[in-house]
Amino acid sequence: MEIAQIPPSPELLELLSDCDLPVADIAVSDTLRFYGCRSDGLLTGVVGLESHGSVALLRSLAVPRSSRGAGIGRALVRFVEQRARSRGVRTMFLLTETADGFFALLGYQPIPREQAPPAIAATTQFSVLCPASSRLLSKPL
Ligand SMILES: CC(C)(COP(=O)(O)OP(=O)(O)OC[C@H]1O[C@@H](n2cnc3c(N)ncnc32)[C@H](O)[C@@H]1OP(=O)(O)O)[C@@H](O)C(=O)NCCC(=O)NCCS
Repeated sequence: MEIAQIPPSPELLELLSDCDLPVADIAVSDTLRFYGCRSDGLLTGVVGLESHGSVALLRSLAVPRSSRGAGIGRALVRFVEQRARSRGVRTMFLLTETADGFFALLGYQPIPREQAPPAIAATTQFSVLCPASSRLLSKPL
């Protein structure tokens, strides 16, 4: 499976919307990049990585329903973990409402939201887009 950086295209926004994930702050910047994989030209998975020094936020992980259960989600998480590690990130964070079980299998553990480092707490995902009910998970890389 080939995973490569992708632009914030309408195709990416549609996949995130279909998976009920926020799209309001989707734009590539120095700190935010998106990666995806394809099959027959169609996006079969995307993930975003928002890096802030030694910490990063894994976000916008989405696999279309028709492609789930084939290891794509796991491969995308491994890919961004590797990217983050090579950029000096020591701890990965993420917010989720529905996929705790999936991330637990990949070594992520819940932590209280109040314990988020300032750079993570300041992200739009954390402070604006993800509801207070979403859980904060983290993993040392
Ligand atoms: C979560 C998601 C990315 C998983 O993608 P996927 O490609 O189906 O995942 P994989 O095939 O790599 O699954 C890896 C393992 O996690 C398990 N798993 C997948 N989704 C799960 C879930 N929601 N809860 C618990 N376990 C889950 C799989 O059974 C598999 O286990 P196995 O290795 O023992 O067989 C996908 O369901 C999705 O896009 N959900 C909607 C968006 C979302 O919630 N994103 C996360 C918030 S950023």
